[in-house]
Amino acid sequence: MKPFINTTLTIYLFLITFIHQSPSSWALEIWPVAQELLESAREPHFFEWVREVRRRIHQYPELGFQEHRTSQLIRAELDSLGVEYSWPVAKTGVVGSIGSGERPFFALRADMDALSLQELVDWEYRSKIDGQMHACGHDSHVAMLLGAAKLLQARKDKLKGTVKLVFQPGEEGYAGAYHMLQDGALDNVEAIFGLHVYPTISTGAIASRPGPILAGAGLFTATIQGKGGHAANPHTAKDPILAASSTVISLQQIISRETDPLEAGVVTVGFVEGGQAGNVIPEIVKLGGTYRSLSPQGLYRIQKRIKEVIEMQATVHRCNAMVEFKEETPMPYPVLVNDEALYEHAKSVGEALLGKPNVQILPVTMGAEDFSFYSQKMPAVMYTIGTKNETLKSDQPLHSPHFIIDEEALPIGSAFHAAVAMSYLDRHSETH
Ligand SMILES: *[C@@H]1O[C@H](CO)[C@@H](O)[C@H](O)[C@H]1NC(C)=O
Repeated sequence: MKPFINTTLTIYLFLITFIHQSPSSWALEIWPVAQELLESAREPHFFEWVREVRRRIHQYPELGFQEHRTSQLIRAELDSLGVEYSWPVAKTGVVGSIGSGERPFFALRADMDALSLQELVDWEYRSKIDGQMHACGHDSHVAMLLGAAKLLQARKDKLKGTVKLVFQPGEEGYAGAYHMLQDGALDNVEAIFGLHVYPTISTGAIASRPGPILAGAGLFTATIQGKGGHAANPHTAKDPILAASSTVISLQQIISRETDPLEAGVVTVGFVEGGQAGNVIPEIVKLGGTYRSLSPQGLYRIQKRIKEVIEMQATVHRCNAMVEFKEETPMPYPVLVNDEALYEHAKSVGEALLGKPNVQILPVTMGAEDFSFYSQKMPAVMYTIGTKNETLKSDQPLHSPHFIIDEEALPIGSAFHAAVAMSYLDRHSETH
């Protein structure tokens, strides 16, 4: 009996292993399409074009809702590709459209704005605008999405639905994504994909994860009003500096004493402004910062406590406080939650494009992204694309004045965008 059992077991184990490792027929279909897109994107004329687009944008960075020049560049490129678009959407935004004009509608998104930051990288294409820099890679995001437009437009007759190219303003604290949604830019869209360059992942790799991936985040500012006076007579004044100092300490206890240690949360005071002379008690002190959580309940609770703590600490010190949360922006940005099915879809595409080992799991971080406004309205997934290259030393963090990317990532990003969209339409067209 023994040999028989072993043989049966072996066959059984073999079958189980085979079934588990065998890619689905869909995954097999996407393989050649993805490879063909990547080859096209890596052809020298394509690579040089997409790199040149990125460099042009890099030289003229523009802040949120002021991306006029960038918007014009996008429209000019779409015109020369023969891609139709709507404009203006949310002031400077552009929404291109490629395909049948029918459902399903799938969106690809790039953000366009830069940061208030002086570029300290010494290279030929450095920012020509003092105090403004593309230090978060949005120049690359626009270039990669224009690259995807070029790849998709060349294959438009094969698209089983419509791809929307969403060029969005104001990601850096202006909730541009919210305003795109308000303007109806994504009304028929069923799902959306976004791509962000990432300096801790090597060129040729991508990374993401299902579920919550980035924090919900808000900003607060407070004005603490006291009564100014001579520093030698503190009893005749009401000292807002002391009130602000106690407030900063107390705010730290919202996380350390009131939040479950197993729940992620942040309260950071990023600025305190007040007073000018050592012998004067000032009239007011301003302070402000950010608060973050991985759950909507957490965000709500922290926000409520920030207001209470600041107001009450001011009262303790005989001052008044006014607290603001930029709710009109709107803030807070929601938690970014990657849709599981869409995450898996993009993962299969990424594996077909770059090989399994190059699709990595991204750790959750407490950064934030206004892409989360889309994720509240429809299945959404954001992937990061590696731009780290040891030769180039392109591992400086996002928002650093030394931030650079390995431009070899640009064609990969274009192909990834295009392949995710094409295969999404393939998979969802039968159901309509
Ligand atoms: C890193 O950059 C150098 C210089 O551009 C290039 O030759 C090399 O292929 C890049 N390495 C990777 C892994 O992409």
